[in-house]
Amino acid sequence: MSSQQPAPSESPAPVSEKDRVVIFDTTLRDGEQCPGASMTFEEKLEVAELLDTMGVDIIEAGFPIASVGDFESVAEIARRTKRAVVAGLARAVPIDIARAGEAVRHARRGRIHTFVSTSPIHLEHQMRKSQEEVLEIITATVTQARNLVEDVEWSAMDATRTPLDYLARCVEAAIKAGATTINLPDTVGYATPDEYRTMFRTMREKVPNADKAVFSVHCHNDLGLAVANSLAGLEGGARQIECTVNGIGERAGNAALEEVVMALSVRRDVLPYTTGIDASMLTRASRLVSAVTSFPVQYNKAIVGRNAFAHESGIHQDGMLKHNQTYEIMTPESVGVSKTSLVMGKHSGRAAFRDKLKALGYELGENALNDAFTRFKDLADRKKVIYDEDIEALVDQEIAAAHDRIKLVSLSVIAGTRGPQRATMRLEVDGRTLTEEAEGNGPVDATFNCIKALVAHTAKLDLYQVHAVTEGTDAQAEVSVRLEEDGKAVTAKAADPDTLVASAQAYITALNKLMRKRQSLNAQAAAG
Ligand code: KIV
Ligand code: ZN
Repeated sequence: MSSQQPAPSESPAPVSEKDRVVIFDTTLRDGEQCPGASMTFEEKLEVAELLDTMGVDIIEAGFPIASVGDFESVAEIARRTKRAVVAGLARAVPIDIARAGEAVRHARRGRIHTFVSTSPIHLEHQMRKSQEEVLEIITATVTQARNLVEDVEWSAMDATRTPLDYLARCVEAAIKAGATTINLPDTVGYATPDEYRTMFRTMREKVPNADKAVFSVHCHNDLGLAVANSLAGLEGGARQIECTVNGIGERAGNAALEEVVMALSVRRDVLPYTTGIDASMLTRASRLVSAVTSFPVQYNKAIVGRNAFAHESGIHQDGMLKHNQTYEIMTPESVGVSKTSLVMGKHSGRAAFRDKLKALGYELGENALNDAFTRFKDLADRKKVIYDEDIEALVDQEIAAAHDRIKLVSLSVIAGTRGPQRATMRLEVDGRTLTEEAEGNGPVDATFNCIKALVAHTAKLDLYQVHAVTEGTDAQAEVSVRLEEDGKAVTAKAADPDTLVASAQAYITALNKLMRKRQSLNAQAAAG
């Protein structure tokens, strides 16, 4: 390891075109697949637009056969995306591949990504197929996909638990049938960096037509090794990394896009590869994905966690005041965190508010801007100092609320030592204003009892969590609520200086999400 980190002005070692790493983002597919992270149609379009602007090379927009909703979002993202390739996932069955081909048909650049398991454990217990049968499936399905689009990716599911000689035969068959990208996933997050590097090296050396395809890494984080394994894959010759914003994904998640990108950027001295990502948009992408999925970002998460650039101990603060490179290997600005976090107050006008939103990466239409400004003024009346994080929480909430059927009109709560606590709530439900009063075992319980009385539902409260967005007793409280109904879970977040208002808002947002989910399932059932 080099003892000295290069000064930011020093130019990194030159890299050639063959060292350009393709960033394949699967937030909308593998990421969305994880429990509680489902997104609405509009939310998916918003995330895809941001990924495209940020410089992601390939957006895996979904799994078109999975549902009508998935098909439609992949098709719409394909139509709208300006720069990136748009991929649709397909199992190794003809109907899946046809559906994926149909979904990406209108993309400027479309890709079908088809996969089949190759490991003995999957072949024996899940697929009940022989190795020879799987080889035939690979040839048939990749050929079918290639007849629909030029750009075909083939994945060997559970590649890291597949014997290398059999894996090499599969890869050879896929390339021969026309696959242009070969992805070798660590599906169960089992590999070590050394093993993963060796797997790619072996494939590139052993497979006769290996130079005809780009090799790709796809790592799950079950042992916390997803990013390390992805980087090791590059050393083995892979040039595509599959990853997700905030590392969301099946079980422990996928390699985090922001960590991969910054590792390549900060350690160019030992990892001489480039990406096309505008790193200054990483924080914004992280916040958007967290807001639409309601998946909180762990405080100490690398690159995008709220503590990632916070220096608490005296020794560290002393060092930082003398020279920022004493304890910072990258600047907060390089990943889009603005240095001055203290911003606006109740005297700030609309123009300043609009400028601030722009600096934070939000471009709102006139109506949304007006609504956000009204809420900002309301917040400024109640809270002396408003931080960037407060504004972001407020705007994210505004965006999430745009399509809601249930809206909170007002809430008042009587709390204190002399119970029972009592809440009075007014909601707008499908345009009708309804009022209810309820008691509870504490003010939060009373608040939630009002909602239960006003909107009949069978969902159970699975999680209730509160934390402060910023510091001080007037800080905004951020509340996360998870509701579960018929085995489906949705999570929602809301922020407000009043913890009870934030609690009500989070519960209502989760209910709205559940309703949208139910509606889209009903539409799918009706469509057969
Ligand atoms: O983890 C995995 O193997 C996958 C494939 C579908 C590529 O997500
Ligand atoms: Zn995966």
